[in-house]
Amino acid sequence: MTATNLRGDSKRITALIEAIAAISETPAPSGVTRLAYTSLERDAHAAFTRWMTDLGLSVRTDEVGNTIAERPGTRADPTGATHKRAIGTGSHLDSVPRGGRFDGIAGVVAAAEVARLVVEQGVEHDHPLRFVVFAGEEGARFGQACIGSKAVGGMWTSQALAEVRDADGASIADAMRALDFDPRQVDGAKWDRDDWAGFIELHVEQGEVLEAQGTSIGIVDLISGSTRFELTVSGRASHTGSTPMSLRADALCAAAEVVLLCEEIANDAQHRGTRCTVGKIAVLPGSITTIPGEVTLAVDVRDVDSGRQRETANEVVSRGRDLCLRRGVELRARLLSDASPVVLPAWIRDITTGVCKDLDVSFRVMCSGASHDSQMVGHAVPAGMIFVPSRAGLSHVPEEWSSSSDIALGVEVLARSLLAVDAQLTRLGR
Ligand code: GLV
Ligand code: MN
Ligand code: MN
Repeated sequence: MTATNLRGDSKRITALIEAIAAISETPAPSGVTRLAYTSLERDAHAAFTRWMTDLGLSVRTDEVGNTIAERPGTRADPTGATHKRAIGTGSHLDSVPRGGRFDGIAGVVAAAEVARLVVEQGVEHDHPLRFVVFAGEEGARFGQACIGSKAVGGMWTSQALAEVRDADGASIADAMRALDFDPRQVDGAKWDRDDWAGFIELHVEQGEVLEAQGTSIGIVDLISGSTRFELTVSGRASHTGSTPMSLRADALCAAAEVVLLCEEIANDAQHRGTRCTVGKIAVLPGSITTIPGEVTLAVDVRDVDSGRQRETANEVVSRGRDLCLRRGVELRARLLSDASPVVLPAWIRDITTGVCKDLDVSFRVMCSGASHDSQMVGHAVPAGMIFVPSRAGLSHVPEEWSSSSDIALGVEVLARSLLAVDAQLTRLGR
């Protein structure tokens, strides 16, 4: 049967997004909190599993907690002699603290809608279609983004999982064990090209380009990399009343200059396009009557140019160290994570572009400032990305919003792109 209606159902999209938003540590006005590798994140994966099993699809959870549903190719060789590689779609269901209800979730709901449409309409395809929820995409808890998709990309060792820790000192490996996953089995989650042909993720843009231009779809060609590090400024804590201004080694005053240095470097003419942010700061001992003795800053440098990304990080540390020295305090740096920018393959982009043209849907090719699971998937399997508009470009905040009708259109572009990949692979005998 030929598919005639692959537009997502807006009402159903709203209902699924609300169902996931209700699984949160924080109540509604404070946004959604469903951190990586927590039981709440597992509850959200369980909801997705129910949606998929209700459609009659098989579902498995891999070694690191990624959830993968499959619809076998409907024109599969009954003898099983011809193995067809899968085409996947999906995103993540964890959130930042007090975040929005669309980042990651829109892509999972879109995957669920594609699954429903192909099952209910009996759409035929040669290659298996897989619907995926990656575990732990947000770097908010461990400083490391894309934990599940990095496993898929073969980018973890079990030792590294034991070394990366959250603010309470729990490692990713500890958090996995608490949820009954065995971090020593991380290699088992790796995807390879014998089993996977391609992957396309739908995501909210998280910027305001599409909305400002009145464009319906973004087609991503390049995903920014990020270098994240912790800076510790050590000064001398003392009494705020009895210590004269001239005899202080105030760690917070020096840290304040480092924050402004980050802004200055990213704004200079040679770094236009670099984003450098201090998003977290801890002051010790944290008392109104004690001069700050130690300050910890979390710095996130993002860029689409890998050389400039790393040079910026080095420049922040070296110039930060000099300015601290001048203030009589010390600066130490510790790398938290480092991910390169990724160029997504043109052939998937061409397919998605062709679908938009066929549907007469407005689109633009654009790069992504945020990190995404596709960035890590792309290390193992060709990956593409489709953006849908974000209201006012807001993201990682409770105000994050995308309309269900925009997502429904994205679902159609996604579904038709996946089926076009299926058809192209078949034509090429792959
Ligand atoms: C993921 O949301 C990121 O921080 O880019
Ligand atoms: Mn996301
Ligand atoms: Mn995010």
